Amino acid sequence: MSPEKLGLRFLLPLSLTLLTALCAHHFLVRKTRSIDIAGRDIDGHQFNTVDEMWKEHAGDPNRKSQWYNDAVTYWEGVDASVDGVLSGFGIVNDADINGSEDFLKVLLSERFHIDNRHQPLVALDCGSGIGRVTKNLLIRYFNEVDLLEPVSHFLEAARETLATGYQTNSDLHKAVNFYSLPLQDFTPVAGRYDVIWIQWCIGHLTDNDFISFFNRAKVQEGFPEGLFAVKMYALTTDIL
Ligand SMILES: *[C@@H]1O[C@H](CO)[C@@H](O)[C@H](O)[C@H]1NC(C)=O
Repeated sequence: MSPEKLGLRFLLPLSLTLLTALCAHHFLVRKTRSIDIAGRDIDGHQFNTVDEMWKEHAGDPNRKSQWYNDAVTYWEGVDASVDGVLSGFGIVNDADINGSEDFLKVLLSERFHIDNRHQPLVALDCGSGIGRVTKNLLIRYFNEVDLLEPVSHFLEAARETLATGYQTNSDLHKAVNFYSLPLQDFTPVAGRYDVIWIQWCIGHLTDNDFISFFNRAKVQEGFPEGLFAVKMYALTTDIL
């Protein structure tokens, strides 16, 4: 599959984004079930079920590493800029951040009582790219943000952008750790995170790795009080 086509898989209409917060324990109680919908991959191969598609693309270790390598290779060819990480749709940055901020404010006031908190709030930005979401949003609300990104020139750009902390009247907010790893290979430090932010990157993971990540991440002291915030696209097939 060509890297360009691979990129297009993540380029679904941004206006149809869906923001959901999932409590870890709720998520894991729900049993996953096979989705019996037919479809084609970007090379035009027909599959009757999602399982069939994964068997073809990630059914053995070689294919699976190819699946992940293709994705990283694609992003390695992309500019470390807002327009680059948004696949040419840099224009949606403001609306994206505003929407996320409205959501985050509710989340923090309802779940973390931000006005009288006693401990620093810590977030993990998964698939952080150049640090767009951390810089524009997370760092203003969390005292510490860790970034996780497998594409090295993106992570370096993030490191440069976020080198200086963000100072509010009362306390310091800063990016702390920069992990050069993909989500499927990362295990969050136990008890560190209040919120794990996963935006526009979870689609890279195979279904099994997706479930496995949530399982590893929720085994933390912070959870189940801690939250996963997952921002992804939702659309119906007739739009495609
Ligand atoms: C985002 O919010 C800022 C600050 O409230 C506002 O000035 C801007 O117009 C908003 N942008 C979009 C695209 O909603």
